[in-house]
Amino acid sequence: MESVPSQYQRVLSGMRPTGRLHLGHYHGVLKNWVELQNEYECFFFVADWHALTTHYEDPSIIEKSVNDMVIDWLAAGVNQGLAKIFVQSKVPEHAELHLLLSMITPLGWLERVPSYKDQQEKLKGKDLATYGFLGYPLLQSADILMYKAGLVPVGEDQVAHVELTREVARRFNHIYGREAGFEEKAEAAIKKMGKKNAKLYKSLRTKYQEQGDHEALSVARALLESQQNITVGDRERLFGFLEGSGRVILAEPQSLLTKASKMPGLDGQKMSKSYGNTIALRDDPETLEKKLRTMPTDTARVRRTDPGDPARCPVWKFHEIYSDDSTRNWVVEGCKSAGIGCIDCKQPVIDAVLNELKPIQERAREYEEQPELVSTIIAEGSEVARDCARDTMEEVRQAMGLAYK
Ligand code: TRP
Ligand code: SF4
Repeated sequence: MESVPSQYQRVLSGMRPTGRLHLGHYHGVLKNWVELQNEYECFFFVADWHALTTHYEDPSIIEKSVNDMVIDWLAAGVNQGLAKIFVQSKVPEHAELHLLLSMITPLGWLERVPSYKDQQEKLKGKDLATYGFLGYPLLQSADILMYKAGLVPVGEDQVAHVELTREVARRFNHIYGREAGFEEKAEAAIKKMGKKNAKLYKSLRTKYQEQGDHEALSVARALLESQQNITVGDRERLFGFLEGSGRVILAEPQSLLTKASKMPGLDGQKMSKSYGNTIALRDDPETLEKKLRTMPTDTARVRRTDPGDPARCPVWKFHEIYSDDSTRNWVVEGCKSAGIGCIDCKQPVIDAVLNELKPIQERAREYEEQPELVSTIIAEGSEVARDCARDTMEEVRQAMGLAYK
């Protein structure tokens, strides 16, 4: 199955609360979320349990960061009216789904996820030979499948987790979507669509199944989505019947690959907390100016009179993001001819970063002054998410034979 019904074009993404957000997060992730929230039904959540898998020995940073991270989101333009903002641990259904999915997930699938060994290598100082850490990607699968999200905006390093999620969903549907009397139930559901639509559905299904006509598949899906008088269960049956599988209870998501952020750190490497080269969204203007003023430049340019080369200079990378053509020309010429000094060169960047962060910091301040508002936003978002999660869990329990009273 190469795509999910667009009924499920819901977007879900999460972030681990392990500290203040910086410009790398803003350019790499948050700006993207802000756009997505206008186009899709979005769920954005704080993955505090995921943070605990690596920070279990000292979780204080998690506790400090949860509400703070939501402030950063709101300040960057994520809007609680457009997107559901919530905290993972406030929706304990995620833990239940994780547990239930663990029953059907082969150990090898988890051991083979590349980040498992990579991260253990990278974070050598931490003992990550834990059950929780192995289960990290499966917990992520539970996050995604819970909301039947169709699109998951993630970076390159997370694509394998979405792929695992697809496999788990497929396996779940394969095992539990094969209810007794599936064909008869599907046939009965077709009738409920009315004569004309039933006929159309059947002919599209034949075209897909006999001729592999993918266009027919999409049209049939759209037809199912537009049906008002069939139940959720029937719709799932008909999606599955269309493709020749059982009921599609958990939808297979796709990753929406976020382009790697071009935002460089102060030293020209990727901006990352572990390199200590960040500009935090809430660094005050003085700190920010100081960081930029003291950032390294082309090391070959020792004296003011030495010509330099922007290609060897971290400041140039900032100009590539923040400056227009005429400023860039001024930099290239002035640098190569030693016509400008590095402090002159940095000034437009300083101004641009200050300008970009000003409205963000103003909004952040408003939320900082109203901590109870932030808590309310999280509590309300978590309630909405929870309603949705409860519905899914009811279906999942039913499918797994756990709905006895
Ligand atoms: N693992 C993700 C990260 O480290 C965070 C995350 C947890 C997530 N659950 C998710 C992202 C579900 C997307 C969807 O960035
Ligand atoms: Fe870098 Fe600008 Fe100095 Fe050239 S003039 S070395 S580009 S800071």
